[in-house]
Amino acid sequence: MKTLTKVLLASVAVALLAAKWNAPTFNAESLQGARVLLTGASTGIGEQMAYHYAKFGAQIVITARREQVLQQVAEKCLSLGAQKALYIAADMGVDSDPNMVVDFALDQLGGLDYLVLNHIGSSPFSMWEGDIQHLGWLMKVNFLSYSQMAWKALPSLEESKGSIVVVSSILGKMTSPFVVPYTSTKFALNGFFGALSHELAMKNSSVMITICTLGLIDTESAMEKVKDVSNVPAYPASEAALNIIKTGATKQRELFYPWYTYIVTLVRDFFPATRDYMVQKSYNYSP
Ligand SMILES: NC(=O)c1ccc[n+]([C@@H]2O[C@H](COP(=O)([O-])OP(=O)(O)OC[C@H]3O[C@@H](n4cnc5c(N)ncnc54)[C@H](OP(=O)(O)O)[C@@H]3O)[C@@H](O)[C@H]2O)c1
Repeated sequence: MKTLTKVLLASVAVALLAAKWNAPTFNAESLQGARVLLTGASTGIGEQMAYHYAKFGAQIVITARREQVLQQVAEKCLSLGAQKALYIAADMGVDSDPNMVVDFALDQLGGLDYLVLNHIGSSPFSMWEGDIQHLGWLMKVNFLSYSQMAWKALPSLEESKGSIVVVSSILGKMTSPFVVPYTSTKFALNGFFGALSHELAMKNSSVMITICTLGLIDTESAMEKVKDVSNVPAYPASEAALNIIKTGATKQRELFYPWYTYIVTLVRDFFPATRDYMVQKSYNYSP
């Protein structure tokens, strides 16, 4: 067992070093004037991404439901150096809104270099009690709208040799209690965009898909959910946002942030019973 543990640790260390060694260098100038459509940008990681893109001098269209908040974020983006910062209010649970948002961005920016899909609908942090209606709605907001926007933006991204950046979660790689609807939508995203990137590669497409696997990030909505039940450390939203942008800009397939999400993904299937025991014990829960 001791030898096995050593072999496992050595493999993980080699995998981490190889990933770091192979990471391409980020060139900030590549984002100067880049045409970016960013969803879920009124708060949290999306808001932080808007500010980073702005500092890099990008042209941004941001979207979420709350128009007034979007207006404030757009104003701050302009003050930070964005070449353009436009906003459009939309509800991704409404059938026509995902296409409307892409049309708006294409019209205003004259094309797209980056489609950054980041929004999520709200879902309770609790055991699932059979609410199928909420599950269906969340699939629409967190998953179907992503697929719809990606398809609509593909021709323009093809022309610009652009990228689709998908913000997913470690909960799209490994299951956990209290987040049944959320984790379902993230697994669906990983499946859809993983399969789509095979098909694009096989068609010699020039569009890159970057899937971002995030651990716990210190956004207000996430902290509110886990504050009484989990001791997992939360990482800063601004740093997560910058890592997402750099990974997209360097055309990498995957981002793992923070580092432990990579290790969890590597080892998750080694000892399933131990893994499930540890996941369940990481929450303060008594029935
Ligand atoms: N925070 C974490 O710990 C964590 C961990 C792993 C992965 N992630 C991923 O990171 C991304 C951002 O997470 P976050 O914590 O920054 O989320 P957040 O702070 O809750 O922000 C969610 C964003 O989505 C928008 N939104 C909500 N419902 C919407 C709807 N029906 N239509 C359109 N927009 C809607 C919200 O704005 P409005 O209310 O104005 O619509 C807001 O801009 C998500 O994809 C999440 O899964 C986060």
